[in-house]
Parts: sequence; structure tokens; C-alpha cells
Amino acid sequence: MSRTLGPEAPATPPSEPEHAIDEAGGTTAQHAGLAAVDTTVFDGVRDRAAAVIARYPEPRSALLPLLHLVQHVEGHVSRAGIAFCAEALQITTAEVSAVATFYTMYKREPVGRHLVSVCTNTLCAALGGDDIYAAVRERLGGIGHEQTSADGAMTIEHAECLAACDLAPVLTVDYEFFDKQTVDSALEIIDALARGEKPQPTRGAPLTEFRAVELLLAGFFDDPAVGGLDAVAGPSAAEESLRGARLAEERGWTAPPVPDQGDDS
Ligand code: FES
Repeated sequence: MSRTLGPEAPATPPSEPEHAIDEAGGTTAQHAGLAAVDTTVFDGVRDRAAAVIARYPEPRSALLPLLHLVQHVEGHVSRAGIAFCAEALQITTAEVSAVATFYTMYKREPVGRHLVSVCTNTLCAALGGDDIYAAVRERLGGIGHEQTSADGAMTIEHAECLAACDLAPVLTVDYEFFDKQTVDSALEIIDALARGEKPQPTRGAPLTEFRAVELLLAGFFDDPAVGGLDAVAGPSAAEESLRGARLAEERGWTAPPVPDQGDDS
């Protein structure tokens, strides 16, 4: 989701997305415009695409993981990626574009080796998230939202609430959490990533790289390309997040029963 906060100005004007919504209407995956798109870059994942599609009763239901598979290959959803999905699912490129441009996890420009997402939503912002974002972008040469450092190491983005408000301010690297950050601790993470290191997230799995995580998100959890099952190992819940549930358990508190939907008395 693009938005402008504070005085930030993009270092370079954003380029026109190469896969703006299909103006041809995308009548079928075989329409004339699509025939010109070369999708051979995805030849190495056609078997994986077939495996994704086979998980669902309807091929079109496989679109979300298939878009992650596309990002595993190219680091973003290109025009070729849209054509590949349309072809594989026998739907229109317009339908694929509509989904790919709706969800912020599908990137319209190539992402660097790592994606750094700084939460600048209300609670994190109030506790220092805006300062962290400003410091991170400064450290990376003044780049802006969804832009990539000159060495290709990192892309940064403002993130909406990452559902870790009890651990604010937070940032994620390739969707793994670094909780309770300060400007200094965030810059240590950025410097480590710039040196090619993979700092340990506060919780969750060890860091890999953006494209490897995209293979996980496509549902290939035990693939050697992402480090096998170790890639998804690690505790995902923080002690702070579990405290309420533990307290309720100790005191015997339970949630009120769900009303019977059919009972209108
Ligand atoms: S506001 Fe940052 S995690 Fe909720």
C-alpha cells in the first residue's frame, strides 16, 4: 500500500508499473496480447505450479500461492508473471492483475535481497516507528517507500499494523519479527544485513531471503531450496502475547458461548 508520510520524497519518481491492469480486457489466457509475453523464465517452476494447482478443487483457487511462486522466481509480479498465472489457471490476465495489485504482499517492482517492513501504524508510530523508518531510509541512501538500496540488498516499506502491537515498535525482515525496536537496534539490523549477515529474529524462523520466503508462502515448506523444515522452525508467539491467555487459564475464565445463529428468540 503506497502512502506518503511526513516530508519524505521519493529519491526517484516511481516508474510506471509494467503490468497495469490489462486494457485488452484479458478475454482469455490465450488472447492476442498474451501470446507476445515470454514466460519461459518460469520453466523451472512449472512442476511446482502444477503441484500448487493440484491442492485445490478449482484451479483459480491457487492464484494466491501461485503469485508467491512467481515472486520466488522474479522478486516481484511482472507482466510475464501475470501471463504465467493466467495461462496456468486458464483465467484472464485482468483477473490476475486485479488480485496482484490489491494485496500489498505482491510487489510491482523488483524487491532486493531482503524486504524490510517498518510498522508506522498508530501504536508503533507513537512509540518510535516513524523515527525508525526515517533512520532506516537515511541509512540506505535516502530511498523511499518500496524502493531498493543501490546495492540491491534491501527494499524498505512502510507497513500497516503487523499485529504485534504488544511488542511495539516492530519491524520485520522478510516477514520475520524484530520486536521492541529502537532506532539504534534497527540500524544494527540494517548494518548486519548490509554486511551479508542474517541477524536472528526475536521470534519465528531464522532469516533466509525474500525470494526463499516467497517459496515458503507458495506452500513449499520442506523444500531444500529454503532450508528444509528448519526454515519454519522457531516459536512464533511472544510471552507478552500469551500472557492474557495464561491469566484466563489460571482464573478459569472462558469466552461467552457463541449465540445459536438459528435462535432468534
Ligand atoms: S501498530 Fe505496529 S504492530 Fe500494531
